[in-house]
Amino acid sequence: MADELPLLHTHVEGLDRALGGGIPKGSTILVAGTPGTMKTSLVLWMMRENARETGAKSLYVSLEQSADGLRSGAARMGMGELKESQVYILDLAQLRRGMERSETSKDWVAILLEIIKEAVNSTGYQLLAVDSLEALYALTEMQNPRREMFHFLTALKEFDLTTFAIAETSFGENRLAKWGEDFLADGILQLRQVEVGETDVQLRLRCVKMRWMNHDHNALALNHDGERFFVTHVISKKK
Ligand SMILES: Nc1ncnc2c1ncn2[C@@H]1O[C@H](COP(=O)(O)OP(=O)(O)OP(=O)(O)O)[C@@H](O)[C@H]1O
Ligand SMILES: [Mg+2]
Repeated sequence: MADELPLLHTHVEGLDRALGGGIPKGSTILVAGTPGTMKTSLVLWMMRENARETGAKSLYVSLEQSADGLRSGAARMGMGELKESQVYILDLAQLRRGMERSETSKDWVAILLEIIKEAVNSTGYQLLAVDSLEALYALTEMQNPRREMFHFLTALKEFDLTTFAIAETSFGENRLAKWGEDFLADGILQLRQVEVGETDVQLRLRCVKMRWMNHDHNALALNHDGERFFVTHVISKKK
């Protein structure tokens, strides 16, 4: 099965092999992690590297950080200047901040889906990110969050793009997502910081699930050397 699937390369050295070749194109991946675990940087990296490899265009919907903030973060992670023609950042954070209280009654899930649909139809993106699901919850008063998130993720899947839904998990929280998004996603990449000894902290990445792939379930150390991402076995230490 995996042989026939078109796969997206992560361009994180060592990770594609651990995933069994890459991420099946068109799948919806939950990137779940505690604060500051490079969720944003990792997704921007995959988008930028895929643009370089195949010319694939990406749409990054930011509900949290401004486009400028994302671009300068990317530059600090060795990505240089992100080109709009490669990774288009749709900055909805501004909109969210300026929103009146009364506007929480608006159906932001529907509005967001409409915005994404128009962008996808007019530009032909192949990759999509929504950063983050928590910011979307904060934007809107959902009557039935489980049902609305089901609707949101099902609608995203219909775009047929490789989609990264970023989910923030709290420290000490066992659940990867609040409203069953982990069951709906085709794949889950979990990021967390783990204390190693008394002083060191190591960033770990674990593929919790990846439908259709025979992937490694073990945690790997996710490293960044200022220029690129790479994974190593946890026991073999950081650099
Ligand atoms: N070479 C590096 N190795 C490890 N961590 C780094 C490196 N360079 C930057 N960082 C850290 O990565 C974090 C930024 O990553 P990013 O913003 O992508 O994380 P995030 O999980 O999206 O964060 P947030 O929870 O705020 O959305 C910062 O805390 C920064 O200090
Ligand atoms: Mg982030």
